[in-house]
Amino acid sequence: MNRESEATLFLGGGRITGALAAGLRLAGDKRTILVYDRHPEKVRALQRESSVEVARDLKSAIEGAEMLIVAVRPGSVKEMLAQVVACGAALPRLCISLAAGIPLKNLQASMGAVRWSRAMPSPVCRIGRGLTPVCFERSVTKADRVRVRKFFELVGPVLDLREEQMDAITAVHSSTHGYHALAALAKAAQDAGLNHKTALIAAAHALGDGIFYWRASGLSLDELLEEAATPGGIAAATMAAMDRAGYLRAVARGIRAGVKQAQKNARR
Ligand SMILES: NC(=O)c1ccc[n+]([C@@H]2O[C@H](COP(=O)([O-])OP(=O)(O)OC[C@H]3O[C@@H](n4cnc5c(N)ncnc54)[C@H](OP(=O)(O)O)[C@@H]3O)[C@@H](O)[C@H]2O)c1
Repeated sequence: MNRESEATLFLGGGRITGALAAGLRLAGDKRTILVYDRHPEKVRALQRESSVEVARDLKSAIEGAEMLIVAVRPGSVKEMLAQVVACGAALPRLCISLAAGIPLKNLQASMGAVRWSRAMPSPVCRIGRGLTPVCFERSVTKADRVRVRKFFELVGPVLDLREEQMDAITAVHSSTHGYHALAALAKAAQDAGLNHKTALIAAAHALGDGIFYWRASGLSLDELLEEAATPGGIAAATMAAMDRAGYLRAVARGIRAGVKQAQKNARR
């Protein structure tokens, strides 16, 4: 294998690698995906699911890749990069870290021979709708920035951000918000007398279709709220009670906790 093969090497074959590989295949991307992980069974599962190739030898895998993606958990990044450096491989030009909260300067300190990009894909990329914020070291060339963006655009929209915005967007754009809100609304629906299935259908409509309508209509949130909530009606009473109970405060506190966790990762 050589650099012209346009292979992508994932270091770490866990959740986000699985979602990205599936999304890339769904988009019809037939380029080689190599995956290196210390759990061979995980890579075998990805091999079956998304036709990835098992990277058994780290050095030859790195030297055969055009792009290297660090997809281990934040606490494992230093160790993983130390392994990369120790194996003595010639490094690819494009190195991207998916590790939440780990700043470019830390990546540079661990492995300085390359110019780093960061990306924060969402597992929704599995169905081609994952939003991926990206940021780059200043020295990453325009052409390489385009390559990184194009890669993630295969699995959904890409947002260019400044690095200092990455922690905030990581805390905000997580699809967990949708699942969390869906679970909370469905539970309240069951408490109010609906069965489990109907509760989920109703809650998913309220959240998913409501947001789809916002996107499709181009109307502002205020306009849509005005349309959906009759003054003095049930929706108005529901929202007012939620706000009095601290809905906005709870969401803001959650986001602050997420940002703080990302900042903790930066000190690893
Ligand atoms: N999950 C998401 O939705 C998501 C979204 C955006 C970004 N990210 C970022 O992506 C990264 C990976 O997240 P994830 O949820 O996919 O994690 P994960 O499911 O735990 O996958 C990471 C994999 O890498 C392996 N690994 C760690 N160190 C290794 C080493 N030195 N050599 C070989 N294999 C090694 C892990 O094995 P062990 O379990 O034995 O450590 C694990 O199998 C994180 O930094 C996270 O912040 C995740």
